[in-house]
Amino acid sequence: MDRDTFLVFGAPDIRDAEIEEVVATLRSGWIGTGPRTEKFEAAFAEYIGAKHAVALSSCTAGLELALEVFGIGPGDEVITTPMTFCATANVIVHRGAKPVFVDVDPRTGLIDLNRVEGAITRRTRAIIPVHLYGRPVAMRHLLDLARRHDLHIVEDAAHAIEAWDQGRKIGTIGDVTAFSFYVTKNLVTGEGGMLTTGDAKVAEKVRVMRLHGLTKDAWDRYSDKGFRSYDVVAAGYKMNMTDLQAAMGLHQLARIEENLARRREIWKKYDNALCGVAGITTPPPFADSSENDHRCRHGRHLYTIRINEEKLGIGRWEFVRALKERNIGSGVHFLPVHLHKFYRKTFGYKNGDYPNAERIGNETVSLPLSSALADSDVDDVIEAVLEIAEEARSTGA
Ligand SMILES: Cc1ncc(COP(=O)(O)O)c(C=O)c1O
Repeated sequence: MDRDTFLVFGAPDIRDAEIEEVVATLRSGWIGTGPRTEKFEAAFAEYIGAKHAVALSSCTAGLELALEVFGIGPGDEVITTPMTFCATANVIVHRGAKPVFVDVDPRTGLIDLNRVEGAITRRTRAIIPVHLYGRPVAMRHLLDLARRHDLHIVEDAAHAIEAWDQGRKIGTIGDVTAFSFYVTKNLVTGEGGMLTTGDAKVAEKVRVMRLHGLTKDAWDRYSDKGFRSYDVVAAGYKMNMTDLQAAMGLHQLARIEENLARRREIWKKYDNALCGVAGITTPPPFADSSENDHRCRHGRHLYTIRINEEKLGIGRWEFVRALKERNIGSGVHFLPVHLHKFYRKTFGYKNGDYPNAERIGNETVSLPLSSALADSDVDDVIEAVLEIAEEARSTGA
């Protein structure tokens, strides 16, 4: 195949509405945290059905502030999955606590619910499930564990803004949920994130901690209400969202369902073309409920195939290289966290500790899935994957 432009993995779907709103913000005289951020928070809370939504500089900030507000610190343990981005575990380390990993389901890559209780000790304070690739974790089981062992549930929903689990929208289930608006995510603000919670006190603490521990944010101090005094009630952080980011977020949110529908279409095309190709495993099926009934819904964030080196004759990295040679960008989600140098060195994790996560980490490749893809882009990806697989098998034979 001969594609002459490089297909960027995770290219965002940016349209005129966002561009015009960003320009209007630039011209408005206020580009920091202000009225657009407030509007975006309200719109996001409504979309999720959450009582409170607090806009932040990232999903990582949301996870970090949740653990801070719950008072997690040295000597504590927090359970999470090794099949995630390092941010999920790094925030635990920042609190001086220990990340305790639980291996994942070998098919879905989600934390193996049957193993979580076995990892709980008297030091465990919280669980961070990750709705990996947009697929919701079955939260009922974790809520039951949390109740019985008095644990906080902080959900990492970086991939799962649109997902539902058994009749409940992700973002309304655990004590706190953190969402990501990073450049490759389903909703993009450049950098950015949102924390949702049903607890007014938690929301208020996060609001204060996201901006230096100030009782009044900058918009409150400088707006047309006139300068107002403030007090510092805690040594807070700098984790606020700006109106420039919110300007993008407002319009991205307005199209979130439309974009999901497009990604579903692409997902189906990939499934139809790649299912059953020897040496390649497509994502395990997930039965979304009907259009009007979102009891169960996959957020369709990452379409990950797995490369079986024995059957195909080439490994995952060779596959990634071959895609790049054909001008197709791809991703790897994820190399398991426990095998990164810092985690090996600091906590003594090693090869073989979490074999299911390690296997996925060795085999997985994410194909482009942005709603901005044209049908011809999707066809190019399919053609490239089929061609590489065919060539690999024939060379091996
Ligand atoms: C599973 C997961 N958690 C957390 C994050 C961190 O998100 P952010 O970049 O918004 O801090 C990411 C980002 O890639 C992620 O994939």
